[in-house]
Amino acid sequence: MLEKLAIYGGAMVHDGNWPNWPQSTDSTEHNVKCVLGSHRWSVSGQYRGQPSWEERFGQKFAIYTGAGYCVPSSTGTASLSMALEACEVGAYDEVIVPGVSWVTSASAVLGINAIPVLTDVDSKTGCLDPVAVERAITSRTRAITVVHLGSAVANLDRLVAIARAHSIPLIEDCAQAHGARYADRHVGCFGAAGTFSMQHSKLLTSGEGGAVITDDPDIARRLEHLRADGRTLSAQPPGMDEMALVESAELMGNNHCLSEFHAAILMAQLEVLDEQKARRCRNAAMLDSLLVSLGFLPQATAPRTTERAYYTYVVRLPQSIVETQGAERFAAALSAEIGLPCKTMYSALNQNLLYQPFSRNRFALGKAFTDAVDPSRFQLPKAQEFSNSCIALPHRMLLSDTSSMQHVAAAFEKVAKLIDDRRT
Ligand SMILES: Cc1ncc(COP(=O)(O)O)c(C=O)c1O
Repeated sequence: MLEKLAIYGGAMVHDGNWPNWPQSTDSTEHNVKCVLGSHRWSVSGQYRGQPSWEERFGQKFAIYTGAGYCVPSSTGTASLSMALEACEVGAYDEVIVPGVSWVTSASAVLGINAIPVLTDVDSKTGCLDPVAVERAITSRTRAITVVHLGSAVANLDRLVAIARAHSIPLIEDCAQAHGARYADRHVGCFGAAGTFSMQHSKLLTSGEGGAVITDDPDIARRLEHLRADGRTLSAQPPGMDEMALVESAELMGNNHCLSEFHAAILMAQLEVLDEQKARRCRNAAMLDSLLVSLGFLPQATAPRTTERAYYTYVVRLPQSIVETQGAERFAAALSAEIGLPCKTMYSALNQNLLYQPFSRNRFALGKAFTDAVDPSRFQLPKAQEFSNSCIALPHRMLLSDTSSMQHVAAAFEKVAKLIDDRRT
């Protein structure tokens, strides 16, 4: 019988029985119950005789990453906005942003009335290209934001050097890189600040959540104000039933606090992060070698990366497939073979449906601003090519057993062989 693609009714290569995500542990349940019984569900609630989970998570994550300080927050988006403002970026300032990323990379910059300067990426890693960054810097550049995308770590040696040479803060967006290391140090520790998302899909998650790390005490103090409406935690434990947050008011903030439930979940999830990372790395190494032998190109990372985190397993398809079938069709056929959603990469930000500065009146700040934030003014050939040629597989695939990696590679091979022929 003729072999048929699963998308056309053929047999699947894998039964689709993959590990689920997110996964909780006994500690996760225990911690949530502790919060329920504590009668303090937010850091902004009254003190009940113990440090908040929010404080404890901040301390634990600072130790985990090796940062001097960690300020938890409600989302990755809030973390990025707070980090920018803590670095004193504001209205009409230019911020360098990678050309391929989740929309937040640009919308968070716009959200503080600054100008996202969409900048091209490295073809092999998909992360900010240092040469393009040098070209994009002007006298109005006030920050460089870099995203460690998918499973890659950006070239931090070169980006740090550029940021230092121009006295511009570098902010690392590590939303996709919990546990990744470069030159043996955790990502997020190389610039002025590192931001994290703990949204549902992330490697460390509480459904929604975020955090910012920094070594700079002044930045940390501003971050604290920015996340709790201008309040900071009292230096000494307050009396029972008093507020732990005091109105220090050195800087106006907003409410971006992480709830006690989310912080308690993160405390438990952090305990299993390294074990999960090790499993993902082992499986990714195996899949890399299988796919390379079939002519696919797994995403590269900067040379001095010491540990990858694998938020997504990104693969570049052979040019012949991209040109004749397109990445979207390949991803759909692969998804059907293995019963797992495989996606195309984000569209480059100059063409991204979600990045629409002119859809909101608050950004109608006059012609000069409107021209400056117009996404169509940016040329991003490498970002577009990366986006059109790569597909991303979810990290829960890498939590499976090693034999499943052989099925994934077999599915790539089958789809590559049969996708030309729509009848099979
Ligand atoms: C690179 C990057 N930055 C920022 C964010 C935003 O995080 P959140 O969804 O928690 O606001 C995400 C979320 O996917 C992301 O991938």
